[in-house]
Amino acid sequence: MSNIQEDYCLKNHNTFGIDASAKYFASFSSESELIALLRNKICKTEPLFILGGGSNILLTQDFEGIVLANDIKGIDIAYEDEQSVSITVGAGEVWHDFVLWSINQNLSGIENLALIPGLIGASPMQNIGAYGTEVKDVITKVSYIEIETGTKKEITNKECKFGYRNSIFKEELKGKVVITQVVYQLSKTPLNNIKYGAITEELKLLKKEASPSSIAQAVINIRSSKLPDPKVLGNSGSFFKNPIIETSEFEKLKKEFPEMVGYTISESKTKIAAGWLIDNAGLKGYRKADAGVHKNQALVLVNYGNASGTDIINLAKEVQQRVKDKYGINLDPEVNIL
Ligand code: EPU
Repeated sequence: MSNIQEDYCLKNHNTFGIDASAKYFASFSSESELIALLRNKICKTEPLFILGGGSNILLTQDFEGIVLANDIKGIDIAYEDEQSVSITVGAGEVWHDFVLWSINQNLSGIENLALIPGLIGASPMQNIGAYGTEVKDVITKVSYIEIETGTKKEITNKECKFGYRNSIFKEELKGKVVITQVVYQLSKTPLNNIKYGAITEELKLLKKEASPSSIAQAVINIRSSKLPDPKVLGNSGSFFKNPIIETSEFEKLKKEFPEMVGYTISESKTKIAAGWLIDNAGLKGYRKADAGVHKNQALVLVNYGNASGTDIINLAKEVQQRVKDKYGINLDPEVNIL
């Protein structure tokens, strides 16, 4: 196939800005183009990696295989009733552009997820979430192509098996499918989800009532003040997941660390703010050569310029060790390490 490029530099395709390359690279803008690519001998024989916005990957070496970049576009209203609108979106659309589109259409449901980097395809994959909202609450269907057979399938929200930053696409279907379209159901009535305290405070500062557009603005302001812009400072958002531990364990830790931040998620489990753990282990702003822990949000690791994937991994390991030593808690990466 003619549009497969060789020895392709991936520096502009990952928000960490890591200088690594792929042996082969091709992009596709429709399901038929993807199916044709999958039939190609290179895709049949070489390791394959599907790339979205590159905002949740860490490249630790050159990729000895073929990278396929998803460029399937389209935002189409599929169905509409009095309360809601169903929209089919191509997996290669930019997530934040879709959020802005929804606000322009006076629809509600994803305004709290403004400014999350990446493409539509990643939203079900890792069940993106922020400021009291998770995308699983608005996804109704996901379409994908099976890599081995080239067959198209569509699954329901329930079949996606969504969890905290998790779904079937990170478990049973990992590496087996390419997400091509996602259907979202958004509300015509504003949901005004302001249970996350920081949003209420920001709305006060903005002197605005809650609405989809004011909430999106508040989220944009909060994110911009805490999270580094990947165009300026390479990063991939939260590097670690917030660990979930037994509440009894949390209670014990609280005796030693009364300020520790945790959220009850079930009768016996508590989710701990990993940013707090890292920060209070004295690592906020810690830097080793060009790899660092962000100065405003300790959950984010950054590339100050020329860090390699290995530099970032080594820093991550040091962070994990320090947190383990201090609190006995294991941190798992949220980013996909390649
Ligand atoms: N905290 C600190 N020091 C820090 C960072 C955080 O003490 O350096 C404390 C904060 O004061 C707060 C708590 O930890 O009490 C939680 O911090 P924050 O609200 O900033 O959220 P987070 O738990 O660090 C999660 C998501 C983010 C999402 C925010 C807002 C994960 C892994 N991360 O971060 O998602 O934007 O909540 O909802 O769940 C991402 O996944 O890439 C991401 C940015």
